[in-house]
Amino acid sequence: MSERYHAVVPAAGGGTRLGAPVPKQYLDLGGDSMLHRTIDALLAEPRLAAVVVVVSPDDLRRPAQGRFDARVRFAGVGGATRADSVAAGVEQLDARAEDWVLVHDAARPGLSAVALARLIDEVGDDPVGGLLAMPVADTVKRCDDDGRVTATVDREQLWAAQTPQMFRVGLLRQALSGERLGITDEASAIEKLGLRPRLVRGEPANFKVTLAEDLQMAAALQQKGAA
Ligand code: C5P
Repeated sequence: MSERYHAVVPAAGGGTRLGAPVPKQYLDLGGDSMLHRTIDALLAEPRLAAVVVVVSPDDLRRPAQGRFDARVRFAGVGGATRADSVAAGVEQLDARAEDWVLVHDAARPGLSAVALARLIDEVGDDPVGGLLAMPVADTVKRCDDDGRVTATVDREQLWAAQTPQMFRVGLLRQALSGERLGITDEASAIEKLGLRPRLVRGEPANFKVTLAEDLQMAAALQQKGAA
């Protein structure tokens, strides 16, 4: 039997950097929540067998399961960090070790069906797995505590990681089973095992909504897409 594809959506964060009274995944993006938009973006891919959305155990805003496609399941198992939420979400999957899991941030509603399909197509036969990412276009500076430049970093081989990040269920479980301090994405956990995940070109619209300006930009892009 061939391996299957599953998704885990960590959606248990507070989104404090955005300064909104509700967690950012529940903010409105043109008539639907950001979380709803993100789930819909994943459901556009028919190869995904299941989408497990990880919310916080005390999340009262969690939408009714019935509003979504039968592939979607909400799990109130979110943890203190994103890595904790992802690790708990992976345990909720009805999956075999050789199946693939795509982890995608709830705060990236702009994922296109094309980029999602490209990731699956390019990583589907990779021994390690991979992630969407963008080559860094700006000149990059390192700074000190006073906000003064201490160095210009060569951007030649720099990429900014996006999600989804796609790894085999068994390997990701192993990578997240140890100390999770400082692990901000799945790829970094895999790298700690001495493996080298593959980079697949993402797209600018798949940015992570972090600040208030990002929310305006995401809403504008959704409106453009719907037009
Ligand atoms: O805070 P940040 O934007 O980096 O979070 C990325 C994603 O991880 C968001 O979708 C957020 O809801 C999720 N997250 C989580 N559990 C946490 C922290 C963040 O599921 N404890």
